[in-house]
Amino acid sequence: MNIIDIISKTKKRTELSEAEIRWLVEKYTDGEIPDYQMSAWLMAVCLNGLTESETLSLTLAMRDSGDILDFSRIEGITADKHSTGGVGDKTSLIMLPIASACGLYIPKMSGRGLGHTGGTIDKLESISGYRTEIPVEEFKEIVRQTGFSIISQSENICPADRKIYSLRNATGTVDSIPLICASIMSKKLAMNTDCILLDVKYGSGAFMKTKSEAEELALLMENIGKKARKKCHSYVTDMDIPLGNNIGNALEVKEAVEILQGRYKGGLYDLCMELVVEILQLAGKGTSSECMKMAEDAVSSGKALEVLRKTIALHGGDSRVCDDVSLLPQAKYKYEVRAVCDMQITEIDCQELGMTSVILGAGRLAKDDIIDMSAGIVMNCSAGDCISVDDTIMTLYSSTVSDFSESSFRAVNALKFKKI
Ligand code: URA
Repeated sequence: MNIIDIISKTKKRTELSEAEIRWLVEKYTDGEIPDYQMSAWLMAVCLNGLTESETLSLTLAMRDSGDILDFSRIEGITADKHSTGGVGDKTSLIMLPIASACGLYIPKMSGRGLGHTGGTIDKLESISGYRTEIPVEEFKEIVRQTGFSIISQSENICPADRKIYSLRNATGTVDSIPLICASIMSKKLAMNTDCILLDVKYGSGAFMKTKSEAEELALLMENIGKKARKKCHSYVTDMDIPLGNNIGNALEVKEAVEILQGRYKGGLYDLCMELVVEILQLAGKGTSSECMKMAEDAVSSGKALEVLRKTIALHGGDSRVCDDVSLLPQAKYKYEVRAVCDMQITEIDCQELGMTSVILGAGRLAKDDIIDMSAGIVMNCSAGDCISVDDTIMTLYSSTVSDFSESSFRAVNALKFKKI
């Protein structure tokens, strides 16, 4: 086997064998194939795609490049959930405690935010003391004790994906459906849970801009999961408006806690409940209405909040935030964006709002940027809402930026409205 033949085959759309793909992944991960040749192959994949069988081989080879976790000591059904992420996406912080309170065991490895999208790991680190990097044995023990744990990606899981993903980032080869599928599913399959729920988002705030692209990715990931003998279900959701009202790390934890306290219902609560029902059904916990009842009881009884409290404590975090959200980082400065006339908001550009929160300090433009955990945006209205002149449309928060001229300009630009 040699790399030139492999590049030429993909260039000519000739299907690669499982052995060729495994060889390619192993040799690249070991450093025997240089970046420039792997980049050429990745670009050929971007332009010509891969067949489903090639995508499966790539996913399994990447999965096998590192450790595969073993949760067989947990006496119960294990599940994992993946969201392709977006602006204000705190669904994991809400649905994992609920699903765990309903009897599932959910070990989850998550990422950090980059660009306009946030990351669950950054959100959790806004809780004082929460450790996101812990040994795998401790991770498993927390899952066994409370029902769920979220940690950052371990170095030993899918090292091939780590190396290939950073090369894709540097070579303009991220936006390929088979490459995204193999990258996500290799990590999910290495977690080795019984069930996998995939929430693929589309819209201005998401990776996939159109519904049809999201459906294609969702179906491919579901098929790969099933071929790898997992119970797998995909779900396509729209991300044309931010999820919930809050964008930014501590602000999103606050919103998640308030939902688990039963204080807010609305679009975000409904979406989380739908996702919980999907994952419970996938795990065989009952019919849709039985699972919905279980999920509602978990919130109203306070059981889900208790699961979150215990998980935060076992991670070394200040679990009092579950009772008093004012213990989360608070911004030094704030600015209210007000309506200049009576208006109806017709559209919200999520990507632009996400970038506004980055400018406020809530996200990173480069990998090593330091985050202002208190920074972000609280929306007072959503697309379709009518508001009166001088009412607050949204409030911007930051501890690092006291001059809001750039951020308020971008925030206003993110809204389309008509005078009424
Ligand atoms: N998330 C991943 O883990 N991989 C991708 O390729 C894209 C999003």
